[in-house]
Amino acid sequence: MTEILCVVGARPNFMKMAPVLEGLRAYPEIRPYLVHTGQHYGAEMSRVFFEELGLPKPDQDLEIGSDTHARQTARILMAFDDLLETRSARLVVVVGDVNSTMACALAAVKREIPVAHVEAGLRSRDRSMPEEINRLVTDAVSEILFATSPDAVENLRAEGVPGSKIHLVGNPMIDTLMRHRPKAQARRAPERHGLTPRKYAVVTLHRPSNVDDPVSLRRILDALQTLATRIPVWFPVHPRTRERMKDLGFHPGPGFHLHEPLGYLDFLGLMGEATFVLTDSGGIQEETAALGVPCLTLRANTERPITVTEGTNRLLGDDPNAILPAAETILSGNAPEPRCPELWDGKAGPRIARILASYVRSPVADTARPEPSPGR
Ligand code: UD1
Repeated sequence: MTEILCVVGARPNFMKMAPVLEGLRAYPEIRPYLVHTGQHYGAEMSRVFFEELGLPKPDQDLEIGSDTHARQTARILMAFDDLLETRSARLVVVVGDVNSTMACALAAVKREIPVAHVEAGLRSRDRSMPEEINRLVTDAVSEILFATSPDAVENLRAEGVPGSKIHLVGNPMIDTLMRHRPKAQARRAPERHGLTPRKYAVVTLHRPSNVDDPVSLRRILDALQTLATRIPVWFPVHPRTRERMKDLGFHPGPGFHLHEPLGYLDFLGLMGEATFVLTDSGGIQEETAALGVPCLTLRANTERPITVTEGTNRLLGDDPNAILPAAETILSGNAPEPRCPELWDGKAGPRIARILASYVRSPVADTARPEPSPGR
């Protein structure tokens, strides 16, 4: 049996790894060993996703928890290095751009274990974003780079990554979305939460650039409160945002509904039936593109430009004054045409698994010459 270590750490990793693990089932000679770093923990940020996505219980939970970025990264590096010492991994698979992604990629290459990065090549070109640093470092040390979109392939080529390492495979997060959409719809989340389908807005905010500065957070919340006089606003609050809102002593007024973070299925159900979504999340820009739901992104840049050019996303910049006019445009019936990027077709997981299987079959000394990928 060939062992592949598959790493998850934070909430947005779980839905990206699920289709990879599923795809690897077609290769009984491969034993995926699932590692949870514990960057996100507890029922609402972690456990509910394992249950709802049918993810296997992690073979190992490193239980790292929250800390400053450098300390969290360092602690994951050390704990994952200790784990690598005890395993005979042929390959390490990391997903996305969180601290766990970068830390485990670094620990693996330091032991000369090749790294495969799912969702490689995305670039916001904003190095004040912790995720941009994680993306750059992870891609620089990865041997196999799985891109979700052609712009990601171009970014990697422009950075000098050889084409033989890059595979345009589509978007595994959309595999998960397609697979679970019927189940999510059947739960009738909007109705259960007292909302009328297509007559409310969903909001998510957690980026340091939006929520860590009390002045900008206050301005955003005021803008959302004004929006709530036009359309009900449903806001499941990330723990980091919740703490900042508590510091501000913020209490929502009429039409502005705050909620605990939601599980995958209820959030998908609410997002799928929303009039529009307002967010600063990366993944939600992609999910709304696939769902055809208008997305307003409260950021000055995006590492996912394809969601703007071929999806439903619109960048608002970082001024909350832009929220209301953009919402009015949608409410007056001028929403973007729903389109979905190519290869976001629910089959990324099997494509990734096939390339991984081909890689691990190649002789150990040979550094990666897997089969060419579709779309290249
Ligand atoms: C992390 C990722 C971000 C991703 C986001 C999704 C990095 C650099 N950032 O940001 O890319 O979009 O996850 O949620 O990896 N906390 C809890 N429970 C948890 C986890 C966190 O209460 O399970 C609280 C803690 O107070 C913690 C804070 O949230 O300090 C921030 O968590 P952290 O993992 O550092 O970053 P996120 O903001 O969640």
